[in-house]
Amino acid sequence: MGRVRISILGSTGLVGQWMVKLLDNHPFIEVVKLSASPGKVGRRYGDAVSWFVPGDVPEYARDIVLVSTDPSDHKDVDVVLSALPNEVAISVERKLLESGINVISNAAPERLNPRVPLINPEVNWDHLEVLREVKGSWLVKNPNCTAAIISIPIKPLQELIEELHIVTLQSVSGAGYLGLSYLAIDGNVIPFIKGEEEKIEAELNKMLGKQSRDGYEPWNRPIYVTATRVPVKYGHMAVIHAVLREPVDQDSVINRLRSFRSLPQEAGLPTAPREPIRVINRVDAPQPARDLDPMAISVGRVLVRGNVLRMVALGDNLVRGAAGASILTLEVMRHLKLL
Ligand SMILES: NC(=O)c1ccc[n+]([C@@H]2O[C@H](COP(=O)([O-])OP(=O)(O)OC[C@H]3O[C@@H](n4cnc5c(N)ncnc54)[C@H](OP(=O)(O)O)[C@@H]3O)[C@@H](O)[C@H]2O)c1
Repeated sequence: MGRVRISILGSTGLVGQWMVKLLDNHPFIEVVKLSASPGKVGRRYGDAVSWFVPGDVPEYARDIVLVSTDPSDHKDVDVVLSALPNEVAISVERKLLESGINVISNAAPERLNPRVPLINPEVNWDHLEVLREVKGSWLVKNPNCTAAIISIPIKPLQELIEELHIVTLQSVSGAGYLGLSYLAIDGNVIPFIKGEEEKIEAELNKMLGKQSRDGYEPWNRPIYVTATRVPVKYGHMAVIHAVLREPVDQDSVINRLRSFRSLPQEAGLPTAPREPIRVINRVDAPQPARDLDPMAISVGRVLVRGNVLRMVALGDNLVRGAAGASILTLEVMRHLKLL
């Protein structure tokens, strides 16, 4: 199998920079184009980017000259990875698809389109199979960062669950580089994130449901979400209470979480975490400052009382929730020979 040539749209933003970083020395994905907003087009990536990711700007990216989002700038790539703001993504991604260019996107529009797979690789890689029937270009969506994180520890428990009650504690980076004013969040908690609760409920139901070429059948369980923004830079946490079909043993729940593996692990894909779920025994885990892993979900505070399970999940919103998940999706697609 040859190399996969890609472009990154929004490459100077929080998610885009992580894509640039994670693709440094990738064994089979080659970044050939980087794009930013019109004001930066024509500049060298290394000069135009305000780099915030640990380490330096990867050498391979420094001299790449930024291009626009216009399809004519992305003709010679196999896939475009999009990390564009939602309002920009709508028309840009549509134009790319109309020009025959494949897109994997982090932006929200079209996530619930019945014909567009919404993929979190360990959870529902099999939904990608519908692309075998697609003639011409395809669009694959990455879920909302919080839905991406929560869906992983839910997956191995899915058959036990009747109903979910979730309170999220989401970091400031989830709103993008210019997303939230320091004065609004410093020393504060904001118990509202516009549109977030609806997205988490609907996207969990889509990913945990069944996908066919005619559309998807949602999981259809009641899911109640309260989304809050907290003064933490990186990492989204969720306190999850699940009403189970019947009482279960706490150790069997922990075993299911710890032993969960999926196609990305079985295939040994480069971006796949060895263990998708790290159950941490420490009484005060998980904490963003201590337990954040780029691609695995850290789970603590597991408690079963009767038929109610409580657990706290933590994941990296920029890597597991966005950049890393899209790259892992691309790796799965190549493994499945969909590319
Ligand atoms: N942050 C998260 O935790 C997270 C998680 C999951 C999904 N997402 C989604 O991922 C996407 C990117 O989020 P982000 O946090 O990385 O946002 P961000 O930091 O604001 O970055 C936005 C990127 O888009 C570029 N851009 C803005 N307007 C443009 C235009 N008109 N034409 C071309 N490029 C333009 C920006 O370029 P300039 O540098 O030139 O302005 C920048 O590279 C969003 O759809 C978001 O909803 C974010």
